[in-house]
Amino acid sequence: MKGMPRPLPDELLQLPHRREVPFARLTTLGVGGLCHWLFEPTTEAEAQVFVRTCLRHDLPYRVLGGGSNLVVLGDVTEPVLRLRLGAKTERRGLELTAPASYGHIALAEAAAAEGLSGLEWASGIPGSLGGAIRMNAGAYGCEWVQVLTRYRFLTPEGELVEKVPEPGEFHYRGSWFTAAHVVLSATARLVQGDSESIRAQMVDYRGRRGTSQPRSKRNAGCIFKNPPGQIAGQLIDAAGLKGLRLGDAEVSPEHGNFLVNHGHATVEEFAELMAQVRERVREIHGVELEPEVEIWRECCDRPAKRNC
Ligand code: EPU
Repeated sequence: MKGMPRPLPDELLQLPHRREVPFARLTTLGVGGLCHWLFEPTTEAEAQVFVRTCLRHDLPYRVLGGGSNLVVLGDVTEPVLRLRLGAKTERRGLELTAPASYGHIALAEAAAAEGLSGLEWASGIPGSLGGAIRMNAGAYGCEWVQVLTRYRFLTPEGELVEKVPEPGEFHYRGSWFTAAHVVLSATARLVQGDSESIRAQMVDYRGRRGTSQPRSKRNAGCIFKNPPGQIAGQLIDAAGLKGLRLGDAEVSPEHGNFLVNHGHATVEEFAELMAQVRERVREIHGVELEPEVEIWRECCDRPAKRNC
């Protein structure tokens, strides 16, 4: 893809970073070109330096979580931030707090180990806690906003804010965060249960996912949001699109709302397959499907606060 990485200010280069990392290694789907600059702060203070430096130099940046809900269509020349804040949870009474880089499934397991119930549904959803908060991840009638009691984040100006959620901030698979906000940590209020029955519920949820969703092929979870009152997977299925394959990219034969990578799917194959699915569903059902996944395209220079 076009676009050369811009030289970066020294202050940024002092932070832990890596160069030229393929998105195949940074996303569960395994599609995309190169991440030219991957910054991996290990403290909140380093993350703050990252955001403030980018702002000062008018550098757009992107924030990566666990890469499980992301489709990257090309190379990314802007600096990419991926937090590495350690793996410690903190329990206070019935509240459990974890850093944004904590694994989502690992957090559900940590809650179970504490005998805390309320995150069982999360045990089959990969990615990071930060990504799950940003998109208000959910399954089986539950979603993050139901248990979230506090969260910390950096504003696009690099200010650190801690707050309680307010009505309207989170909705179905989305939140008020812009692409330039950085979630730092989140706290869930859970209820006392016992580890054994919590784990049994987790096994049940994971089993249900195992039978209805593709497990053995790389994917990014559900690709499209369910339109109000409808089910994207059902619409795609009824349009006869399951099994539609372009190279190594395929509409999963198991669940219509999953596009899978058989190993070497290219950016072009994936972009084209998504476009074809949307077009056919529009033609057949008159419904416009909206991506549920985050999509990163190659991006032109623009001010830091209007990130891609
Ligand atoms: N269905 C079909 N054909 C298909 C797929 C589904 O007929 O190809 C039917 C199923 O038989 C079922 C209904 O559609 O009757 C609902 O299917 P499912 O239970 O799989 O739920 P979904 O609405 O497709 C949502 C979430 C999933 C979450 C499941 C379980 C969205 C976009 N998807 O899927 O979340 O795991 O419910 O709670 O909201 C994700 O966020 O990435 C994700 C996969």
